[in-house]
Amino acid sequence: MSQLFANVKELPPDPLFGLKARYNQDKRSDKVDLGIGAYRDNNGKPWILPAVKQAEQKLINSPDYNHEYLSIGGYEPFYTSAAKVLLGDESKALSPSRIASQQSLSGTGALHLAGLFLKKFYIGNGPQPAIYLSSPTWANHKQVFETLGLQVKTYPYWHAETKSLDLTGFLNTIREAKQGSIFLLHACAHNPTGLDPTPQQWDQILKELDSRKHFIIFDSAYQGFASGDLEKDAYPIRRAINDGLVSQSPIIICQSFAKNVGMYGERVGAIHFILPHDDAQFIKAIKSQLNLMTRCEISNPPAYGAKIVSAILHDEKLYKQWKEDLKTMSSRIIKMRQTLRKKLEALGTPGKWNHITDQTGMFSFTGLTPGQVEKLEKKHGVYLVSSGRASVAGLNEGNIDKVAKAIDDVVRNASSKL
Ligand code: LMR
Repeated sequence: MSQLFANVKELPPDPLFGLKARYNQDKRSDKVDLGIGAYRDNNGKPWILPAVKQAEQKLINSPDYNHEYLSIGGYEPFYTSAAKVLLGDESKALSPSRIASQQSLSGTGALHLAGLFLKKFYIGNGPQPAIYLSSPTWANHKQVFETLGLQVKTYPYWHAETKSLDLTGFLNTIREAKQGSIFLLHACAHNPTGLDPTPQQWDQILKELDSRKHFIIFDSAYQGFASGDLEKDAYPIRRAINDGLVSQSPIIICQSFAKNVGMYGERVGAIHFILPHDDAQFIKAIKSQLNLMTRCEISNPPAYGAKIVSAILHDEKLYKQWKEDLKTMSSRIIKMRQTLRKKLEALGTPGKWNHITDQTGMFSFTGLTPGQVEKLEKKHGVYLVSSGRASVAGLNEGNIDKVAKAIDDVVRNASSKL
């Protein structure tokens, strides 16, 4: 049979989910999972946010609770209020003739819809639109766009030597890229580096993108998770759209609620297509096309998670609780960053460790080499991505000593065999 499908070659496991599978098979009782970006509490357990628990009760007890289909575009109370979370309640861009929003299968589904839409319709950059991704970026970005036939390029982002932002390289690429190229920006808590531009650097980046008429996609997967403050984490989005720093081209925002609501498996997300000026006819057309794409792929989006998030966003008490939950998660992560750095410095581990606390969000780009990461996994049962990315959310008071000592060992004995 296989000769009928000569090109079906077995692929290597996914870098993140393959790592998770190896971790699950490891029998060591003191193993540590710093792989996939999912929040864990101080006991290393998944955490159901109190806001989510309360919203679930509210939903289940409601007389309207049912499992009917949503419409093709998803749950309207969810995606309209999701746009407000991004842009703020007062944003002029919420005008129904400026924004087309639709529910998606979390952030990845939104990115896929964005790529599909741009591949099909975007002519700003000729027939083969190029999309620029940060180097490095989330392991899934490249393949999402490449499988759609988009040409993927990169812009410099991480300066390995200084472990800081390569702003000059980033700005040069924006200037040199063909006018009307597509640029994917991480709105906050950059994955994998945990390194975000400062507000001043964001302004420079956005102005430069606008002057070259590039098309921006914001990937917003960690709003509120990075700093604990929804507004602060939306800085580049609100500057670009509300303050008009980007006025020559529409913007797409791909929004995920996996991390900031802790509903990883429910795939709650949205895509928002925002125009710089009102154009009701165009918005209607965009909506109808997004609807067709959704209908062809998934018929209509899943309801449960969207209803939960909507309940949180529409209830003052639950919204307040959610903001507290965001603080609980972000402050525990910040504390773990500080503790890890302190422990490594106390051990006298060779190298500088300030980047661990300079970075923000779920991840730390540790600077460990693939060889050191392999040794961490095999010798110590500490699992992180081969790029050296560690999910700080996997650290807790019970395992942080072990992790610091394990890092110390692999850094000091870099050349020793496993
Ligand atoms: C991660 O980067 O670990 C997460 O976004 C999980 C995923 O879907 O890859």
